[in-house]
Amino acid sequence: MVKLDQSTSRIQHSSWIELRADRLLQNLETLRKHSGQTDVLAVIKANAYGHGLSEIANALAGRVTYFGVATLREALELKENHPQTPVFLFGHLFPHEIPAALLGGITLSVSSVEKAKEISDLSEDLGRKTSVHVKIDTGMGRMGIPVREAAVCIEEMTRLKGLMLDGIYTHFPTAEKDDAFRENQVREFGLLLQILEQKGIIFRFRHATNSAATLTLKTPLFNMIRPGLTLYGIYPDLELKTQAHFEPVLSLKSRIVLVKKVRAGESVGYGREFVAKTDTTVAILPLGYSHGYPYAAWKKASVLCRGKRCSLAGKVSMDYIAVDLGNIEAKEGDTVTLIGEDQNERITAEDIAGWAHTIPYEIVTRLSSHIPRIVVH
Ligand SMILES: Cc1ncc(COP(=O)(O)O)c(C=O)c1O
Repeated sequence: MVKLDQSTSRIQHSSWIELRADRLLQNLETLRKHSGQTDVLAVIKANAYGHGLSEIANALAGRVTYFGVATLREALELKENHPQTPVFLFGHLFPHEIPAALLGGITLSVSSVEKAKEISDLSEDLGRKTSVHVKIDTGMGRMGIPVREAAVCIEEMTRLKGLMLDGIYTHFPTAEKDDAFRENQVREFGLLLQILEQKGIIFRFRHATNSAATLTLKTPLFNMIRPGLTLYGIYPDLELKTQAHFEPVLSLKSRIVLVKKVRAGESVGYGREFVAKTDTTVAILPLGYSHGYPYAAWKKASVLCRGKRCSLAGKVSMDYIAVDLGNIEAKEGDTVTLIGEDQNERITAEDIAGWAHTIPYEIVTRLSSHIPRIVVH
């Protein structure tokens, strides 16, 4: 009988994500320097933009003012592992979820007086005060109190005994554009802060600046920045590359599981979209769209093998990608880079977004949480 070796040291990952913690911290410092602000609400929602919530939080804990997430599940997970770092929950809470958030000590976002009352009443029942940041809609049109109603609503909120009004914030729909719309948002938000100040209402944290705004604003705005994408070394817009230098934190790698000779005229994959023009070699990778590699990228996509770019041989399958190696020699177990660097070549999340006609946010946030994350320094 074959005895199974239980030690994981003998198991090789077939596909994995490498995370450069040093680059993450460097990007954080670049954001601080560029914005002229020290307080940072690090946006690590959506599994830290697909990078891995626990790995990214471990690297940032104690180095940022807040962690920002979208779901209660993520907020509670962070609080359990990093009780010292305040956690801000952007997302909405249904009534039955509020007690867990309060007991977890999560800082909550409020977008209405009604929700503020609900949170306050429950906090009082539990004999505590809950820290909240009030969200103001100055033009994003999603969550948030419309700015014209905000002063009255916030005055009402100051009378709620179960709340600590610690923060106030707004969001830009076109942060990458230094235009009249954004200017008006800044003006209206600033005006609101002034009106509140005259009434003696001062918020400790006032924030609006996401990655694109950090890169395009000429002077520091309010007193905390709220970046996501650039922390991970990815640009929200390629035109912003000239503004500051960020290095990608994430690499996506996979090991060849099969190398095969394909003759001219033979096809590979669904729809027989790839038909070899000449005799070639094809490598099969155990990674597909179920792992988050975008199906839509296949026509233009390339990967790196032995420092060279190779196109895909046909469509991306659910759990396989076929790569046209041409005359590159490779064997089972060799590493192929789908995002990241190999010798002098680099493939970025922005490249893949371009091939798949989407945004880099979608490329990284869709990377399956099942792919092992390995932190390298
Ligand atoms: C309210 C809010 N603030 C900040 C961010 C961070 O944006 P970015 O990743 O573009 O820096 C997001 C991202 O979705 C957001 O929804």
